[in-house]
Amino acid sequence: MSKVIPLSEPNFSKEDRKLLLESFDSTFISSSGKFLDKFEDKIAKMTRSECCTLTTNGTSAIHLGLKALGVKEGDEVICPSLTFIASINPILYLNASPIFMDSDEYFCMDLEKLKHFLTKHTYTNKMGTFNKITKKRISSLILVHVWGNAGKAIEIVRECKKRKIKVLEDATESLGTKIKKENLYTGTIGDVGCYSFNGNKIITAGGGGAVVSKNKNLINKIKFWSTQSKSDPFNYIHNELGFNYRLSNMQAAIGLSQLKRLRKIINQKKELRKYTEKALHSKGYKLYELPPYSDNNCWLFVMKCKSSERMKLLNKLNSNNVMARPVWGLCHKQRYTKQFQSFEIEKSEKLLKESICLPSSSGLTKAQINFYVNLL
Ligand SMILES: Cc1ncc(COP(=O)(O)O)c(C=O)c1O
Repeated sequence: MSKVIPLSEPNFSKEDRKLLLESFDSTFISSSGKFLDKFEDKIAKMTRSECCTLTTNGTSAIHLGLKALGVKEGDEVICPSLTFIASINPILYLNASPIFMDSDEYFCMDLEKLKHFLTKHTYTNKMGTFNKITKKRISSLILVHVWGNAGKAIEIVRECKKRKIKVLEDATESLGTKIKKENLYTGTIGDVGCYSFNGNKIITAGGGGAVVSKNKNLINKIKFWSTQSKSDPFNYIHNELGFNYRLSNMQAAIGLSQLKRLRKIINQKKELRKYTEKALHSKGYKLYELPPYSDNNCWLFVMKCKSSERMKLLNKLNSNNVMARPVWGLCHKQRYTKQFQSFEIEKSEKLLKESICLPSSSGLTKAQINFYVNLL
């Protein structure tokens, strides 16, 4: 095939274009307008999270989410190593330190290892939970729902609550994924949840992010910070440091229109995943299993392979214009993060070596799937 098969491209409709032009024609193209209000409202309703505020992207959503949870200079934040670096950078923006944890078979934080770390290496008193080695306060934990797979959010939140550790769910990849038993959407189980509307996500706004929470004060605070902390907007008085992190009304128009089609897109992805699985089977390969305890949005399809053949397969696919990708370089091994504590990271290393991310766009055709599977 001469045309590139992208890893994850957006799925647009005529309605997306119509609402985008409507916002453009309204002249409300920046940080206020009816589409922002409507999009926030619809996200809160759809996820049953009560309140929502929109940000420029998922990274800024995580930054202000952590700040709202009270992460301060000198604090520590528990986080996974196997994630996109955007989950981790906001910890450093706040001059706090990450403590890196391992992943389980679904690529999300390993619950048993987390419990082991908390039991053996921390202590809790009325001030909170502290790291026995560094004596620093562990104020928060970031749970990432990797590839759209739900992490064990219920259990992790329970462990954290006992220890006064706040939980931020990085649900940037998992909008629409639900934990079956509790019937709760990822992003709504911890203290705050963050979504991304980047062009490669399950739905897009051409870039964008959202923070959701049941705590209205917290969401209001994030909205305030994201619009330059205008304590007195008329006289331009700012009593605190602010950020220019508000989504634009034009982006919100696209996001709103896309959100109406979220279910449809997820269903398309589910069908394509089934088809991909069958095609791979004929070649002796398989996708990693999805967590049985969740209804998954199937955002990204990840194939299991032998570590010895991974690079060969990646090169073959990419030289034939198939955008297959390796899993992210682990976050605890980046040049500027390796100084921080990590706890028994083994499974993440194995997952990295034995995985290939495959094209997963909702508009993928069967012919495209057959084409790249035949290359394997
Ligand atoms: C796991 C994860 N966290 C955070 C982000 C950051 O989102 P954004 O690109 O919208 O800043 C992304 C996506 O890019 C992501 O995949």
